Amino acid sequence: MKVVLVAGARPNFPKVAPLASAFAARGVSADICHTGQHYDEAMSSLFFDELSIPRPRWNLDVGSGSHGHQAAAILERFERVLTGDRPDLVVVVGDVNGTMACTLAAAKLGITVAHVEAGLRSFDRTMPEEVNRVVTDSLADLLYCSEPSGVENLRAEGIEDWRILHAGNVMIDSLVRHRSRARRIGRPRALGLPERYGVVTMHRPSNVDDPDSARQLCDTLSRVAAMIPLVFPMHPRTQAALQRHGLLDGLAASVRVLPPEGYLEFLGLMESASLVLTDSGGVQEETTVLGVPCLTLRRNTERPATVAQGTNRVVGTDPRDVESAARAFLGSPPERRVPDLWDGRAAARIVEHVLSGVLDRAAARRARWSERASTEPPRSA
Ligand code: UD1
Ligand code: UDP
Repeated sequence: MKVVLVAGARPNFPKVAPLASAFAARGVSADICHTGQHYDEAMSSLFFDELSIPRPRWNLDVGSGSHGHQAAAILERFERVLTGDRPDLVVVVGDVNGTMACTLAAAKLGITVAHVEAGLRSFDRTMPEEVNRVVTDSLADLLYCSEPSGVENLRAEGIEDWRILHAGNVMIDSLVRHRSRARRIGRPRALGLPERYGVVTMHRPSNVDDPDSARQLCDTLSRVAAMIPLVFPMHPRTQAALQRHGLLDGLAASVRVLPPEGYLEFLGLMESASLVLTDSGGVQEETTVLGVPCLTLRRNTERPATVAQGTNRVVGTDPRDVESAARAFLGSPPERRVPDLWDGRAAARIVEHVLSGVLDRAAARRARWSERASTEPPRSA
């Protein structure tokens, strides 16, 4: 059996790492295809080293550009990989442009696709990731969900039960595996941080690309920094946007701005933090498991388990709302509860399911489509 695992942007790497190990543990050859969407050392190769991810067999080298450019270039280049290699299964994770484009390439070639982290919905189609999620789930054959809302959303969209599995959270597999190593690195001490500090990550286009939103965000962070020292490992999109808007120097006067951190360093920073402010999807989940209070500076989340069961609160971006939520969280931190199946074994459950005969069922489903297409009379216009 041949499997291709697709990864291309920072949040993909902690998801692909446990899947690669789980396939290897069952003797299945799983080759990694890197789309090349993220390419800086701190956004890509550092993660391969720290998470011991096997070197990619292919790199599509798509680089930066518009969504149209990235999706089209990945589609064309991944199609060539698939026609050359003909895998039995393509596994995509998350909701980035490569997730959608690689699913599309495989679906058109009749190759089975498994989507890991399926079914999440913010119901906000102004988010590019929401469009990627909807397209990916409508074409993928096997849908592995990290939380019950994913299963409910997919059922509501008419997907048959046998194609859906509530498998748990593969990103948390990486956290469970590397948590003590991350702690040993002692990142907060190396940065000279005090006992109590907060961590910020922010990169959603809706927050950082528009100058007014970015200004409001900087104002918000300065208000919170007056309550607790803040450290902000900054995503390259954010760095470029704040520089463009002339906001970076002003922010750096009240918040400690750093380049993006490695996976282990960032995990160590989050674990000892008193507060996290973020618009990241993955960080909402990781703080839930770490039991660290997390304020999500967005209007919605596609990860409701982090709010219903975790330490996450979706507060929006109004400076007064964020300031009062931060004060409340620092005074009385929320209780830690870990969602079901966020236990470090999600990738093993997924591989077990893949090997349980479900690929034959997916192939039979496709064969029925071509039978139906050849027997149905042509429709009149
Ligand atoms: C992408 C994902 C987003 C994810 C984020 C994680 C999509 C639609 N978006 O957004 O879901 O949350 O990654 O980090 O797929 N850049 C560099 N070096 C790099 C990569 C990017 O400097 O290694 C800069 C470039 O100027 C680029 C900008 O960052 O134009 C944005 O990168 P891009 O990959 O287009 O989108 P992200 O905002 O990273
Ligand atoms: N992360 C990291 N260094 C950082 C910021 C984030 O290693 O400086 C990790 C974070 O712990 C999580 C992943 O990157 O594992 C989340 O990626 P990101 O926030 O870029 O994307 P999203 O989850 O929003 O799609």
